[in-house]
Amino acid sequence: MNTTQTNKIEIIKAITSKINEVDFDNLHFGEIFTDHSFECDFTNGEWQKPIIKPYAPFLLDPSAKVFHYGQAIFEGMKAYKDDNNDLWLFRPKENFKRFNNSAKRMAMAEVPEEIFMEGLKQLLRLDETWIKKGKGNTMYIRPFMIATGTGVIANPSDDYKFMIILSPAKSYYSGEVKVLIAEHFSRAANGGIGAAKAAGNYAAQFYPTNLANKAGFHQVIWTDDATHTKLEEAGTMNVFFRINDTLYTAPTSERILDGVTRKSLIDMAKRENIEVVIRPVLVSELVEGAKDGSLKEIFGAGTAAVVNPITGFSYQDVYYELPKIENSLALQLKDKLTNIQHKLAEDTFGWTVKI
Ligand code: COI
Repeated sequence: MNTTQTNKIEIIKAITSKINEVDFDNLHFGEIFTDHSFECDFTNGEWQKPIIKPYAPFLLDPSAKVFHYGQAIFEGMKAYKDDNNDLWLFRPKENFKRFNNSAKRMAMAEVPEEIFMEGLKQLLRLDETWIKKGKGNTMYIRPFMIATGTGVIANPSDDYKFMIILSPAKSYYSGEVKVLIAEHFSRAANGGIGAAKAAGNYAAQFYPTNLANKAGFHQVIWTDDATHTKLEEAGTMNVFFRINDTLYTAPTSERILDGVTRKSLIDMAKRENIEVVIRPVLVSELVEGAKDGSLKEIFGAGTAAVVNPITGFSYQDVYYELPKIENSLALQLKDKLTNIQHKLAEDTFGWTVKI
């Protein structure tokens, strides 16, 4: 192994690369990881020396609090390579801020900006050959933090491990996405952790989503826990509805994740003079819109999936198929956004950051 030190990060390079074993044309989301990972531990009340080292499993004490009390948070980000081989991140400060908001809500240590950003940049530079050029090719970045402190007493850990791993990615969903509107299960509740990117928020979705899958649906559209009348998120994404020519999406709240793709789409749509209304959207409006034809589109928005058109929804055992439309707003906005991300269009918003 070859060890160097750059900007305070120790770097231990892998002896061999796995890159030649990867079929970049047939990637399944989140299954392949690059040669290195970034790691920084919080112990004795302070952040220790960060390190980049060969990607590998690691040991944890069986009583580590992450296993028992679920102190675990993460982020989803992407890096892009342009035609000049330059590397770009998309609004990384938004992810950094949200990461520490999640940390605060889960009573975990907050990560200093320099550790987060330098870790990202140096890891991406080291595994740069894994980032392929061309629209559709991205490097999905997964920063995460777990409680490594030991003991099964139910209190916050004193120790944490912050890591970043990288996974080359193409699309998240393939093909059509049919959804089931939640009538009983909830993703989040007022005063809860729905706005945090906490691992448990995703675990709690698995059982109802499995039931939806068995019934022939790909995802669940979550509704508010108190009344199940307001539409909140779609699976792992924020959700937009187009009624006639207006886009609707729910306001962020304690129950809804403040998605970076969500807020970018809102800004882009407004710039295109598309009317965007941010207010609670009722299930009854969706059903009415599907019946009278004013509901034109539903789409999910998130880092992994970018923009994902939803082809139909089921509510109270009735399936409503959306009409197929040419030149959908979902695909127009996705195209504009990915052009900015891949540096194929001018970034007039100032969202892209060169690494
Ligand atoms: C993302 O879109 O980055 C997410 O975090 C969703 C994840 C479950 C893939």
